[in-house]
Amino acid sequence: MATQSLLLFSCSFLLIFLSFSFEKSHALEGRKNMESHFHTLQLTSLLPSSSCNPTTKGKRGGASMEVVNSHGPCSKLNQEGAKASSMTEILAHDQARVDSIQARVTTQNYDLFRKKDKISNKNRAKDSKVNLPVQPGISIGTGNYIVTIGIGTPKKDLSLIFDTGSDLTWTQCQPCVKSCYAQLQPFFDPSSSSTYSNISCTSTACSGLKSATGNNPGCSSSNCIYGIQYGDSSFSLGFFAKDKLTLTPTDVFDGFMFGCGQNNRGLFGKTAGLIGLARDPLSIVSQTAAKFEKYFSYCLPTRRGTNGHLTFGNKNGAKSTIQFTPFTLSQGTSFYFVDVLGISVGGKALSISPMLFKNAGTIIDSGTVITRLPSTAYNNLRSTFQQFMTRYPRAPNLSLLDTCYNLSNYTSISIPKISFNFNGNTNVNLDPNGILLTNGVSQVCLAFAGNGDDDSIGIFGNVQQQTLEIVYDVAGEKLGFGYGGCS
Ligand SMILES: *[C@@H]1O[C@H](CO)[C@@H](O)[C@H](O)[C@H]1NC(C)=O
Ligand SMILES: *[C@@H]1O[C@H](CO)[C@@H](O)[C@H](O)[C@H]1NC(C)=O
Ligand SMILES: *[C@@H]1O[C@H](CO)[C@@H](O)[C@H](O)[C@H]1NC(C)=O
Ligand SMILES: *[C@@H]1O[C@H](CO)[C@@H](O)[C@H](O)[C@H]1NC(C)=O
Repeated sequence: MATQSLLLFSCSFLLIFLSFSFEKSHALEGRKNMESHFHTLQLTSLLPSSSCNPTTKGKRGGASMEVVNSHGPCSKLNQEGAKASSMTEILAHDQARVDSIQARVTTQNYDLFRKKDKISNKNRAKDSKVNLPVQPGISIGTGNYIVTIGIGTPKKDLSLIFDTGSDLTWTQCQPCVKSCYAQLQPFFDPSSSSTYSNISCTSTACSGLKSATGNNPGCSSSNCIYGIQYGDSSFSLGFFAKDKLTLTPTDVFDGFMFGCGQNNRGLFGKTAGLIGLARDPLSIVSQTAAKFEKYFSYCLPTRRGTNGHLTFGNKNGAKSTIQFTPFTLSQGTSFYFVDVLGISVGGKALSISPMLFKNAGTIIDSGTVITRLPSTAYNNLRSTFQQFMTRYPRAPNLSLLDTCYNLSNYTSISIPKISFNFNGNTNVNLDPNGILLTNGVSQVCLAFAGNGDDDSIGIFGNVQQQTLEIVYDVAGEKLGFGYGGCS
């Protein structure tokens, strides 16, 4: 009897012990899994830094230039007493840029696919409400990244906004004829460059302006005149010209075609103009194709006071860790379209059909700040993200960002990882700075926005691109992603 009860006792003990260890190992496994689906980080790593700590310039193949965030501590434009734009202003301008991109794609689709009725009635109605310029341009926005190149002989250094969403490179020139904005560096003076020449109205380069700018060129005493306007009513107008372009001491191009602007107005900060990196034959990518074979890469730095790079060419070959996704048809525009298949939040794939993203397509753009998603995708992302963040107190909306938290009581936080799945089995895990945008610790917001419908194109914006190595193999028709591109 005693033996029997002892046996029974041992058995139930064993059972309890077994089930305990089973639960324990299960819980551990669960926690390990959860940890890998979360970023645990210091809140300060999301806040702008007030000092510039440039990363040491690693050896990169090709012609490599430093990239700085125009609002960051490494920007000279920011140091010279320029009034910093508030986050609300930046986001308002960002919406202007997105509206102009979507209008341009819709207009193109309308012309290209009129019979197929590619665009929905909803979009058309929206279009007629937007007060478009005759040829919609791209809004310049204010969340810009700056790169410095040299033009002329002797070479003059010019810090320009770099823009993968437009084509023509231009700078403000002397003499300013109507209005010019204040820039940090001296205006480029064509008469002091021995290699400068005007382009004639009858040249094929001049007629190429139509596709590069959306406007027919003008002609003034047989000199070709360009005009380009951006969706936020910024513009540049002047002589279409040629001069020597110097990227690095060993990467020099004679006869680079650019706009020598004599009448310029808009949101260009204190930069000297803009460098156009889209697909048109007049973009810098096409004009340097003989040497760099339409291959460039960049890393956009965070606001932590580090710098990034813009590199032309592929001297050392792409790192084996870069994952590629094919570019898709550019819908008659010069934008870079990619195929988004899905998004994961905290290791959980959102239940959205890949057809949702195919509907309108997605572009990658260096000039749009916040990633825009079809409404259905955004709503799904937002509610999943919120479920993982319930422990944190909410804060008011910040302009177009509607999922904000007051983290003023926290020094360390844990947030779900967010990854994008692109065609070609390419998964891109975003940096924490690509998930949350801070407007101080008391307003830390999910850095995504919805389009308001499911038919407008999605945009993979520059906040989400931060710290990634992004490779544009335009000739190979593919886009690559890698990690730690700024270090
Ligand atoms: C370019 O054209 C302008 C306007 O006609 C003229 O003043 C300037 O001298 C020309 N520059 C060159 C190098 O021909
Ligand atoms: C955030 O929380 C702090 C501490 O409770 C409070 O003082 C502050 O007003 C809050 N700010 C916002 C924007 O909610
Ligand atoms: C924040 O934005 C969401 C979505 O646009 C909206 O439903 C909500 O009312 C806004 N909240 C506040 C406090 O404005
Ligand atoms: C911060 O902590 C204080 C003190 O515990 C509390 O009263 C306040 O509500 C908290 N605020 C937030 C936004 O978490």
